[in-house]
Amino acid sequence: MRLANKVALITGAAMGMGEGAARLFAAEGAAVAVVDVNLEGAQATARRIIDAGGKAVAIHADVSDANDVKDAVEATVKQFGKLDILYNNAGVDIEQAPTADYSLQRFDRIIAINLRGVFLGMKFAIPHMAGRGGSIVNTSSVVAFKAMPGGIAYCASKAAVIAMTQVAAVEYGPSRVRVNAICPGAIETPMLAEARRRMGAAVDNATNFAPLRRTGRVEEIANLALFLASDESSFITGAAFPIDGGSLA
Ligand SMILES: NC(=O)c1ccc[n+]([C@@H]2O[C@H](COP(=O)([O-])OP(=O)(O)OC[C@H]3O[C@@H](n4cnc5c(N)ncnc54)[C@H](O)[C@@H]3O)[C@@H](O)[C@H]2O)c1
Repeated sequence: MRLANKVALITGAAMGMGEGAARLFAAEGAAVAVVDVNLEGAQATARRIIDAGGKAVAIHADVSDANDVKDAVEATVKQFGKLDILYNNAGVDIEQAPTADYSLQRFDRIIAINLRGVFLGMKFAIPHMAGRGGSIVNTSSVVAFKAMPGGIAYCASKAAVIAMTQVAAVEYGPSRVRVNAICPGAIETPMLAEARRRMGAAVDNATNFAPLRRTGRVEEIANLALFLASDESSFITGAAFPIDGGSLA
């Protein structure tokens, strides 16, 4: 098993990519803290893992809230004895609008979850990893590299995730903490279903022109996150990986 004896905390693990990763990490031997603002959803994910013979605990946290994130990290360490892997996956893509029409409230909310949330996860997890080793996986997006019209806050937050990934990788590499980012293209999750409801065909037009001519699956993201979380990627840090069917090529 590729994560035997490891302890992982995954944010946004009630559904979508976080849920997929939680189940795969547990199947590969990790004890998983399933963290989400949606506690019922987190409990359902944890239950599925336990029913399949794995180890999991559900923890409520809003990643934009410093106390919640600190408590989630402490609860994980209390429950499983240590923390080896942090997967900062939680993110939101609330409604979109052109820059001049973008509401201040919406801008602040997206930045608070997608950017501050990743910072808070690293801030409170790193002290448990520094010196003894650890792997952090942060979720960015292809829109960190390519504009998504109507997404001023979302694109900015995802570009900032890569910057934070690099800063933390440089700071904590000598302490054996690796930090990498994954940059998904369009992946079939509840978030993409919601975007399709809002934006219609525009979502699929983009993927129809990507080299692989399809959207991605949650399992495909989980496989990359697993590789980066595991010791198989032991010489990789500070890197950002597009996983997008070739849309950036
Ligand atoms: N789906 C895509 O096409 C796509 C593409 C690129 C990047 N991403 C990013 O991948 C990550 C996962 O996306 P997804 O498609 O699985 O999303 P999703 O909406 O399907 O699931 C997101 C999960 O995060 C949780 N969450 C939301 N706000 C939270 C908060 N403040 N605190 C804790 N949990 C919170 C939700 O409850 C949910 O369980 C996000 O960071 C997203 O921005 C998604």
